[in-house]
Amino acid sequence: MARTKTVRRTARTQKPGALGSEAPPTIDAREFAQRRDRVLKALDGSVGLVLAGDADPNLHHPFQAHAHFHYLTGMSDEPGAALLLDPRNPNPARRVQLFLRPLNPEREKWDGFRHEIGSELRERAGIATIFRSNMLSMQLLDAARRARALSLLMPLATHTSPVSGDLEIFRRVCERVPGCGIVDRSQLLATMRARKSDAEVACIEHAGRITGLGFHVAMATLRPGMNEFDLQRNVEEAYREGGARDLAFRTIAGGGFNSTVLHYHANDQPLEAGELVCLDSGAKWCGYSADVTRTLPVSGRFDARQREIYELVLRAQEAAIRACRPGRRLHEIDEAGRDVIRKAGFVDAFPHGMGHHLGLETHDATPDEPVAEGAVITIEPGIYLPLERIGIRIEDDVLVTKRGPRVLTSHIPKSVSDIERLMRR
Ligand code: GLY
Ligand code: MN
Repeated sequence: MARTKTVRRTARTQKPGALGSEAPPTIDAREFAQRRDRVLKALDGSVGLVLAGDADPNLHHPFQAHAHFHYLTGMSDEPGAALLLDPRNPNPARRVQLFLRPLNPEREKWDGFRHEIGSELRERAGIATIFRSNMLSMQLLDAARRARALSLLMPLATHTSPVSGDLEIFRRVCERVPGCGIVDRSQLLATMRARKSDAEVACIEHAGRITGLGFHVAMATLRPGMNEFDLQRNVEEAYREGGARDLAFRTIAGGGFNSTVLHYHANDQPLEAGELVCLDSGAKWCGYSADVTRTLPVSGRFDARQREIYELVLRAQEAAIRACRPGRRLHEIDEAGRDVIRKAGFVDAFPHGMGHHLGLETHDATPDEPVAEGAVITIEPGIYLPLERIGIRIEDDVLVTKRGPRVLTSHIPKSVSDIERLMRR
């Protein structure tokens, strides 16, 4: 099976969506260059290496570059690529070096055209120095000799996972360069990624608008007797109509008992009159995810018990959203909402966390520090009562600002009355 493949920015691969007449947001080349400059400064003279990661050789999963690599290059289609950051290089044009796998005409017959190294590729990448990956060992040795300090930028691995790629390479470099040490700077990119730029917020907001198209269609088309899969299909078709090429994650569409299964994925059961369906889904735009949950009454109206629990979850969500302020820890935001559920006597029916950072990854990089201005986090409390076949989760995407939280997905109906009104139509 052929896959088209050229070096390009994700932004350039997007076609304008059917959402207003304005050009949809993208991340431009200058922003990627500014991100690399910030990393160069923060390295404090040490050397960093950011790895794209490898493709699944069996093509079972599409290649997805490591989000750190994507964040610094905008490139998401070059398996095996690496970015070397060498702030002490006497040649300013070589302080950032991109390494790409050699061309392979046999392979490219299958995977698609790739550019030779030259001005066109440099222009597309926005990086002045590009080598093939066989040059990495020499350039890294050179950089290590100069700096004598290598900084880990990739996330550290747990003791049960393979050692992270940069640490594995750096260990070998240090054996060959006397006096060279390894420094842990694995929080740096997580911290940077957790503070979204205006362009990143615009991309998440656009992903949220596309996601809204899907949820509006869901509310307009939901009927008893539909299959969970019909609901999933309607939602996802609306995303594609809106210009999204990818989902943020596999859509969860669970009716009745299945609404209580947190990461339910079968989506193959009929939706019964009088029951609820928990719809947790999101589109991607320009690499950035939205992540929204609404819990809907299959027949268009909540019964008294469903409404009681729904409004409790909504109050918990509102309390947690109010707590989304710069300087708060995630656990404090969690507690602000959980306390509402605890006081109502349902604490054991809320077994998961209140939310997570959102960005290039749906569960985005999470630095070990308080939530910063510019962070985008999901707020998604839930109450799950399997014996009553009631599972209710409500999730929105919230931008943390000094002036207070801004809910990026507030256009998606959420109150009992708004949902019922839309479903009546
Ligand atoms: N919305 C799915 C999740 O956050 O796991
Ligand atoms: Mn989520």
